[in-house]
Amino acid sequence: LAAFFAPKTMVGQQVLVTAGPTYEAIDPVRGITNLSSGKMGFAIARAARMAGAQVTLVAGPVHLPTPRGVQRIDVRSAREMLEAVQAQVDKASVFVATAAVADWRPDVQADQKIKKDGSGQTPALKFVENPDILATVAQSTRAQSGALFCVGFAAESHDLLAHATAKRIRKGVPLLVGNIGPATFGQDDNALLLVDDAGARELPHASKQALAEQLIADIARRLK
Ligand code: CTP
Ligand code: CA
Repeated sequence: LAAFFAPKTMVGQQVLVTAGPTYEAIDPVRGITNLSSGKMGFAIARAARMAGAQVTLVAGPVHLPTPRGVQRIDVRSAREMLEAVQAQVDKASVFVATAAVADWRPDVQADQKIKKDGSGQTPALKFVENPDILATVAQSTRAQSGALFCVGFAAESHDLLAHATAKRIRKGVPLLVGNIGPATFGQDDNALLLVDDAGARELPHASKQALAEQLIADIARRLK
């Protein structure tokens, strides 16, 4: 019923969303990940669909139901997420990157389970940096020309406005959405700070679904 009455501000738009954490394998049974729940990204996908958009959701490993009417692609690692995004982004008019992409992955993934060798020696992990999915997409010709509107997210533990402002410039996106984390991880509510080239606007504390609907309405106003 909520979907029926939602303002159809996104009809004709193709929205691509990343959500959740990524998982970077160490060996076939172990890996590193983070505590992102995916709830904000799933709420945004749902809100965009309710507003009439065609929505594709690229999701890392999360335990959430797929919002009705949304095409979902499940991935595990940052590199798989980048590949899925690149396969979908050419048809998108809006890209919203909410995923908590692992910044680093182990430089090698053992193809067999690593065993204790009995000596008490611990394995030494070396890391390499993962691709920056948002920055990669934001540098594309379609994003630069305005055909693809890119939105970044940032969870910061302190100095939200300053970090979000700097991150918006560094990523090369017109809109960066900040929130105070990791306190909001897994919670059902949040508060958002929308940072663009003109300044910042706060969406005060509310449910993630209500915030997602306000954010989608804000994005719709920015699309020409
Ligand atoms: N992001 C991404 N790919 C990455 C890292 C981040 O697409 N490898 C996206 C996130 O989905 C988010 C935005 O970039 O929309 C900001 O992520 P964040 O982790 O806050 O920024 P980083 O550049 O990784 O900086 P740091 O973690 O050091 O604060
Ligand atoms: Ca990061």
